[in-house]
Amino acid sequence: MQIIHTASELRKVLTNQAKIGQKSSQKIGFVPTMGNLHAGHIYLVDLAKQHASFVVVSIFVNPLQFSPTEDLSAYPRTLEADYEKLRTADCDIVFVPSVTEVYPDFDGSNLNQSMMIDPPPIANVLCGATRLKHFAGVATVVMKLFNLVFYNTAQPNIAVFGKKDFQQLFIIKEMVRQFNLPINIIAGETVREANGLALSSRNGYLNDIQRASANQLNKALQSIVVNIKAGHSNFEQLEQAASNSLIQQGWEVDYISIRASATLQTATALDNDLVVLGAAKIINKTGGKTRLIDNIEFCAKSLKRL
Ligand code: PAF
Repeated sequence: MQIIHTASELRKVLTNQAKIGQKSSQKIGFVPTMGNLHAGHIYLVDLAKQHASFVVVSIFVNPLQFSPTEDLSAYPRTLEADYEKLRTADCDIVFVPSVTEVYPDFDGSNLNQSMMIDPPPIANVLCGATRLKHFAGVATVVMKLFNLVFYNTAQPNIAVFGKKDFQQLFIIKEMVRQFNLPINIIAGETVREANGLALSSRNGYLNDIQRASANQLNKALQSIVVNIKAGHSNFEQLEQAASNSLIQQGWEVDYISIRASATLQTATALDNDLVVLGAAKIINKTGGKTRLIDNIEFCAKSLKRL
């Protein structure tokens, strides 16, 4: 596995790689990450390997997607352990750029990125309602990373994103479609602990007891799924009940929302393919709060509605 820090070195290595391989079959698989890798990320790398002959993973904690009040400086950075996991997963290249490499006008305190991807209005609801400009920051860095990794490659390549960040996945797919990028986006299922808790780098902020109860978010979403499958069609009431049960257990709820999975628009009883999404904050090790997200995709087809 090669560890690469600069865009020019990455281009050199990828250009050589294309020359060595059969150009027509040399497909690049790309997995963008912010590091602190867990089994969920490694699953995405395995998925990329199934679809591509050459896998690039990036590790870059992107300042542009954090608001000033969020956990940018505290965000876990575990490079050596990440390299070890990627070697074991047989990753070909890990790209670990500096902030200046990604944001050439960075002056030590300001990124000075004056041009941004302007994502569709769906970026302003759910997580985007409390994380202002978050998805513009995500889309902008992903566009930059796509340009760096897929430089000089004409054939469709693949990039893998996890379904845990369902809204992010939706916006990236939309960006690829609207900007005609020659990239197939592959969606990886959410990897969970045995109790249902979705794996996330932010779970590391929790002690064992908090971690054991952090699956309450998933349970609240599951209860909505069960109720809809049982025929309940008052979605607002279900969202409110799930939200109340979390609040009673000490969570601060950002949103619980039942949406149509193909459009992410608010679901009606006529929609069959649904996703229920939630974001809520739980007390963490430091006595502060850690924001966790989760979602469940399901089909409400042929259900009897009350
Ligand atoms: O999902 C993440 O880890 C990040 O949002 C991503 C896609 C790597 C962009 O910084």
